Amino acid sequence: MSQSSNNIVSRAVIVEKLGNPAEVAKVYNVSLGDLPENKVLVQALVSSVNPVDNLIIAGLFPVPFLAQDFSTIKENSSQTKVNGTIPGGEGIGKVIKVGQNASVAMNGTLKVGDWVVPMDLGVYGTWADYYHADPKALVVIKNKTGLTPESLSSITINLPTAYGLLKDIIPLKAGEYIIQNGANSEVGKYIIQMAHVWGIRTVNVIRDRSNYKALENELKSLGADIVIKDTEIKSDETVKLLSSLDAPIKLAINCVGGNSAILLADHLCEDGTYVVYGSMTGEDVPVPYPYLVAKNISFRGFKIFRLYEKNPVNVWMERWDDIMNLIREGKIQKTSTHLVKWESFGEVYGSMTGEDVPVPYPYLVAKNISFRGFKIFRLYEKNPVNVWMERWDDIMNLIREGKIQKTSTHLVKWESFGEGSVETLQKKVQDAITSTSKVSFVFN
Ligand SMILES: NC(=O)c1ccc[n+]([C@@H]2O[C@H](COP(=O)([O-])OP(=O)(O)OC[C@H]3O[C@@H](n4cnc5c(N)ncnc54)[C@H](OP(=O)(O)O)[C@@H]3O)[C@@H](O)[C@H]2O)c1
Repeated sequence: MSQSSNNIVSRAVIVEKLGNPAEVAKVYNVSLGDLPENKVLVQALVSSVNPVDNLIIAGLFPVPFLAQDFSTIKENSSQTKVNGTIPGGEGIGKVIKVGQNASVAMNGTLKVGDWVVPMDLGVYGTWADYYHADPKALVVIKNKTGLTPESLSSITINLPTAYGLLKDIIPLKAGEYIIQNGANSEVGKYIIQMAHVWGIRTVNVIRDRSNYKALENELKSLGADIVIKDTEIKSDETVKLLSSLDAPIKLAINCVGGNSAILLADHLCEDGTYVVYGSMTGEDVPVPYPYLVAKNISFRGFKIFRLYEKNPVNVWMERWDDIMNLIREGKIQKTSTHLVKWESFGEVYGSMTGEDVPVPYPYLVAKNISFRGFKIFRLYEKNPVNVWMERWDDIMNLIREGKIQKTSTHLVKWESFGEGSVETLQKKVQDAITSTSKVSFVFN
């Protein structure tokens, strides 16, 4: 747009009320007004469109809707007010002007020309040509060598998500396998590339399509070891292939949800881990009891923003530096860019929908609750007798010291069942057991 740095008119997407993104996200020309002294003027270089943006706009993601008045300019130059928010939680911008009393950025000083990554824009999201940003919520990319704004466009969300899924959930050794669905998503492709760099092998599940072979080849060219159609995940051929690998599949990574997603767990090794980081179907993952109790699979969630909420900036900058080095060295590349031009915004954005996110998903992803199973016989199956005798000794000491007592015993004497044939006694025993199912029985 036309710009002296004092009179910026910026194209921006504004959402006035939550709802179907295709209907409520509209493009306006916004007059930014004077730059507040404590802010910096940023020009957007690239702004990502992530699935989570849809969920936020649809009101399906737990963030507050903080609307503000924007001064918008119509074709005939008349001004009007629009009350809403600008979406977009990720992007790379360039500093155009620094307010007189602007503070330093999150990771140090900031000057005109710097590339910055907005971490919290409030009502100003990244889906705009220009925005006023609080420097305390900006990270400066100090070393731009070997990087482009496009290569960094997922530095806040998808790149560190792939990194965190491979590094933070369980320790994975070179040679071991992970299995993931939605493997052709942007996160999925970064997982393939990073795993390849670290020697971790990948089994990648994707939906069937007319150009399946081409996509399979693309994923293999990124470093995928095995690619499978989701419709084949239970086939004899797949079971044979995955059960004869020379190393265990230790981690399942799911961004799809629903009944098909749990099938990843069929191929996990005993004691494996299943992590949920997305739900493209909007469906919960039903967890069968035997996976938890017999196979001892742990269910975990992952949310990238936890990295930023729980750690100081230097911790996550170290991680970003690792990722930026992988980009510089050409070891990971961006393959999923779909460039949205303002002119085609309606067409592209109109095709995106937000789906419902059921309750258990936030337990895993937002609240980071882990779901585990417990089976006492694992103690006996997996350990020599001296290990569990130690535990029994501890318990027996607690009993000896009177610290725990048996309170649920229902003493059943044979006499109390009276006389009768074996069949009659058996019936009486069964009745007694069902009627007092919550107590343990001791036959005496
Ligand atoms: N927890 C976190 O911190 C975190 C961070 C980043 C991303 N995420 C989540 O991760 C997921 C992927 O993000 P992204 O940006 O990488 O996505 P993306 O590039 O837009 O890819 C979307 C993927 O979902 C698949 N998909 C869409 N609808 C599906 C359905 N109904 N059934 C099965 N597969 C379906 C697509 O496969 P097709 O090609 O077959 O359509 C594609 O593989 C999203 O759910 C996102 O919210 C979470």
